[in-house]
Order: sequence, then structure tokens, then C-alpha cells
Amino acid sequence: MYVFKAAVIGAGTMGAEIAQVISLSGLPVILKDVDAKQLERGLKHIKGIYARRVQRGRMTEREAEDHFALVTGQLDYQGFSDVDLAIEAVPEKLDLKRSVLREIEANLPRTAIIATNTSALPVSEIAEGLEKPSRFLGLHFFFPASVMRLVEVIGGQATDQETIDSGVEFVEGIRRIPVRVKECPGFLVNRVLMAGLAEVFRAERDLGLEPARIDAAVAASGLAPMGPYALADALGLDIAQEVSQTLQAAYGERFALGERIAGLIAEGKRGAKSGQGFYTYTG
Ligand SMILES: NC(=O)c1ccc[n+]([C@@H]2O[C@H](COP(=O)([O-])OP(=O)(O)OC[C@H]3O[C@@H](n4cnc5c(N)ncnc54)[C@H](O)[C@@H]3O)[C@@H](O)[C@H]2O)c1
Repeated sequence: MYVFKAAVIGAGTMGAEIAQVISLSGLPVILKDVDAKQLERGLKHIKGIYARRVQRGRMTEREAEDHFALVTGQLDYQGFSDVDLAIEAVPEKLDLKRSVLREIEANLPRTAIIATNTSALPVSEIAEGLEKPSRFLGLHFFFPASVMRLVEVIGGQATDQETIDSGVEFVEGIRRIPVRVKECPGFLVNRVLMAGLAEVFRAERDLGLEPARIDAAVAASGLAPMGPYALADALGLDIAQEVSQTLQAAYGERFALGERIAGLIAEGKRGAKSGQGFYTYTG
């Protein structure tokens, strides 16, 4: 199915980034929130991404304006009647997602595809209550979506093949790399990532290594753009811990991140967003 117009519901950290990626590909996209301040912040964030592209000489000011004009920010469902694909990016709470998705479905044409950007909730469970769960799937973008190329495409039990294929085509169309994954706790990327983080944190504890030295060594190796501690701070230590707990419940203790991270969270040090995590952040 060709997507002529898209929508993103939730203009927060992920929603704004996803809407920017869609607009950069030349598709019109509605960015909807329930909170005017959040919507304003989301739109400002998108403008900032385009401004940086202009500064770096990757597009002209005129091109940036034209792309930004493809994003329509709004607080209601106006214009949803000809949206082909909508991506839900509201907070990671099952009940909230279910009720927002029912609302979205009621405002879309019957042929439309609906996706969730959930990090960890089972797609099949979120789909409960939808009239057409066959048209529902997971499209899991990573933060920051404007930079990260990979998108996990996750079918739930009721998702039909055409919807998965359309999801894959859509992701390719917005110049991202789709990876089809099975519905399972952590999907693919978070399982790999969390297994790696847990292993490094164990080595730090057992061998008495210094986080800053580990980060420097990883960055110097070229294996990853940043080391595991800087990454955990960027993700949010509380978020990393939540994901780790989900994975521990499903696969066992090897996904445990250790006591040091639990201690930092207990002290209110939740990573970059709180000004302090493994590192201190100012400004
Ligand atoms: N932050 C990340 O690094 C990351 C990465 C991948 C996936 N995710 C997933 O993406 C989703 C969104 O996460 P986020 O970090 O962007 O959250 P966020 O809190 O930054 O943004 C959520 C937005 O949803 C809005 N919202 C709440 N209720 C709404 C409703 N009824 N209708 C419309 N908008 C509503 C909020 O006002 C807010 O702007 C979650 O499922 C999360 O697990 C997050």
C-alpha cells in the first residue's frame, strides 16, 4: 500500500523525531498531541533539526522551510480521514495506548494502517480492543529517530501479511532500514543492547574497571559512536532499568544491570535528563 499522508500521535521525544523523518522524505504528516505545550516543543524540535541540516550545508533554507511545512501540528483529529498510516507514540502505558489507538482507529479510513512505537509492550496485547487488529503492527524507531536508521517491524498475532509488507515498504520509503522481527520481549535490538550493557557492567564490577575508561576504549574502537555508560545516561537510567527488568522477567538474570545503576536511580540520578547519571551534565 502506498502511503500518501501519515500521522504521528504524541509529539514527545519520539513522536517529533519520527514526524521529522517522515517530512524529510517528502510526505505530509500530521503531528497530534493532547498537550499544547508538548506540541509546541515537538514542532520547535523539528525546526531545530532542519536548522542544523541547513547549518551543515545539507539543505538550503528554502528546502528546510518546504519540508517543515509538510508537518501539521494539531490537538484534534482534523484531516485524519485521508491518512494512510498513523504511528502512535504516546507514553508506554498499556491502557493509555489501547484507548488512544481506539480513538485513532475511529478517525481513520478503514483501509489505513496503524502502528505503535512501543519499546517493550506486546503488540498483540496493545491491539486488543481494535476493530481491525489485522491492520495493526509495531514500527519501533530508535532514539534519536532523525539519526538512527534501523526500524523494527513487528507483527502481532492478528497482523496480516499485507500490513507487515506495507510497514516494510513505508519504512524503506522514508529512507530507513526495516528489520522484521518476531513479537517477543525486547524484540531484537533491545535484547542485544541490554545483553551487552549487562555484560559490560558485570565486567566493571568484577574487574574493578572505570566507566570513563571503558567508554573511551569503546569509542576509540569505532564499534559504537559512544560507550555503554554514556549511552545508558542518554537513554535514561530508569528507562534502561525498566527494559532490563522486562527482559529479566522473560529470559533470566543475565539481563540484570547490577546494583550500581539501581543505586544511582535511588539517588534520583536518572542520566542526562536529570543532570546526573554515571556522568554529570550541565547546561
Ligand atoms: N524515548 C525513547 O528513547 C524511546 C525509544 C523508542 C521507543 N520509545 C517509545 O515511544 C513511545 C513514546 O515515548 P516518548 O519517549 O516519546 O514519550 P514522551 O513522554 O516524550 O512523549 C509522549 C507524548 O504523548 C503525548 N500524549 C499523551 N497522551 C496522549 C494522547 N491521548 N493523545 C496524543 N498524545 C498524547 C504527551 O503529551 C507527550 O507529548 C513509548 O511507547 C516509548 O516506549 C521511546
